[in-house]
Amino acid sequence: MKRREFLQTGGLTAAGFTILPTGRLFASTNNKVRLGYIGVGARGMSHISEGALRDDVEIVAICDTQESSLKGCRAFIAKKGRPAAKEYTGSVSAYKELLERMDIDAVIISTPWQFHYQQAIDAMNAGKYVGCEVIAGLTVKEHWDIVNTSEKTGIPYMTLENVSYRRDVMAVLNMVRQNLFGELIHLEGGYQHDLREVLFNDGKNYYGGGVEYGPKALSEAQWRTQFNIDQDGDLYPTHGAGPIINYASINKGNRFTNLVSFSSKARGLAAHVEKLSPGHPNAKLNYKNGDVTTTLINCANGETVMLTHDVHLPRPYSLGFRVQGTQGLWMDVNKSIHIEGKSKPHAWDKADEWLKTYDHPLWKKYEAEAVGAGHGGMDWFVFNAFVLAVKGKKQTPIDVYDSVTMSVITPLSTKSLKEGNAPQEFPDFTRGKWKKKKDTFAIDESGF
Ligand SMILES: NC(=O)c1ccc[n+]([C@@H]2O[C@H](COP(=O)([O-])OP(=O)(O)OC[C@H]3O[C@@H](n4cnc5c(N)ncnc54)[C@H](O)[C@@H]3O)[C@@H](O)[C@H]2O)c1
Repeated sequence: MKRREFLQTGGLTAAGFTILPTGRLFASTNNKVRLGYIGVGARGMSHISEGALRDDVEIVAICDTQESSLKGCRAFIAKKGRPAAKEYTGSVSAYKELLERMDIDAVIISTPWQFHYQQAIDAMNAGKYVGCEVIAGLTVKEHWDIVNTSEKTGIPYMTLENVSYRRDVMAVLNMVRQNLFGELIHLEGGYQHDLREVLFNDGKNYYGGGVEYGPKALSEAQWRTQFNIDQDGDLYPTHGAGPIINYASINKGNRFTNLVSFSSKARGLAAHVEKLSPGHPNAKLNYKNGDVTTTLINCANGETVMLTHDVHLPRPYSLGFRVQGTQGLWMDVNKSIHIEGKSKPHAWDKADEWLKTYDHPLWKKYEAEAVGAGHGGMDWFVFNAFVLAVKGKKQTPIDVYDSVTMSVITPLSTKSLKEGNAPQEFPDFTRGKWKKKKDTFAIDESGF
């Protein structure tokens, strides 16, 4: 698609954006993207390592509240032979000083969830593109504020949802777009990952496992576990919802209309602590987050979606994707595909054979660059997509509407559970534009 068509159909204008504020982005341009990083813990460092690989990225500034994170980041940047980044620290508001810099085009936000919203709003108001880790805000209102601020400032906001770029996920997207599965009927996905060693981490090694969370712990155990104690609901919907949004053309001719959530009892986390340290106080806590939360979503075009949040129990990793249409289906848990008329009747084909044939053009083009990047290469793709959007002053391929749509599932599911599994209306963040909006995600080989 030519740039002009992009702008007319799926880009800035069609999405309701005006021209980006002049003089704020790219005050001096040498075709490099100048990045500021807010949060350089585990995930922030993964984005730092992506940035350090590229000639078209300058790591201008980093911000973190912990010296241990800054120290690791500083050492890594030096080891890569890159110029030292200016550091901002000292308080949870230190990022505001970073945002005052005129030589930063975009920020990468990889802080705990409770900080994303304000940091993103302030960054957009300061004229910086926002690439924010998953979870845009904590309440429905915060999600609306993000949309309103992005529209008001004209600054794109992208959730850095890496699973949308997973190789098999993109091959299946290619198959969906070529109508292999026929008309889509039902989709599943979720976050099904045993996080017990992440939620209790005494720091013996990175994800060392243990029985502590909060100030005595390391990395995500410092802050994430508290959410599982305080809140029932699907706390991490985007790894499942991000790809499904693309499959079902959500916000582009289709939309989520309402949802209900169900949660099981919560036993896994307490049992984990009790096993490692019998009688420990953390084994006696009342964890509100059910061990398995199931959310069902209706789509305007009649498809159903099921998302699962399952992170407290012993289980091998699988996001549990299922993409099913009138002609066949893909299931990733058994790595199988069935296409009527092409597969043997009632029999599975190994998914790999199909996925190789329908490998997405972007993966074919960039495979070599993505080798060795985090999470099987998909981290390279999501970072690349963001950088190319900033560099071209274009709309991001995961735009603000898709970003908030995948993230708002958390507060909606919590509310559904609180109200006895009551259905919740899904906000139309596009205010009706979904009817005409065109797909812009990984449409061609242009790098998105
Ligand atoms: N997409 C993925 O695959 C993926 C993987 C891991 C984490 N994440 C997401 O990335 C984010 C960060 O997770 P993580 O694993 O890096 O956690 P982490 O705890 O390892 O790192 C968070 C960092 O933010 C810093 N921080 C806390 N408050 C801050 C503030 N107000 N200002 C600046 N810095 C602050 C902490 O000191 C820490 O260094 C979360 O949203 C998480 O869900 C995404």
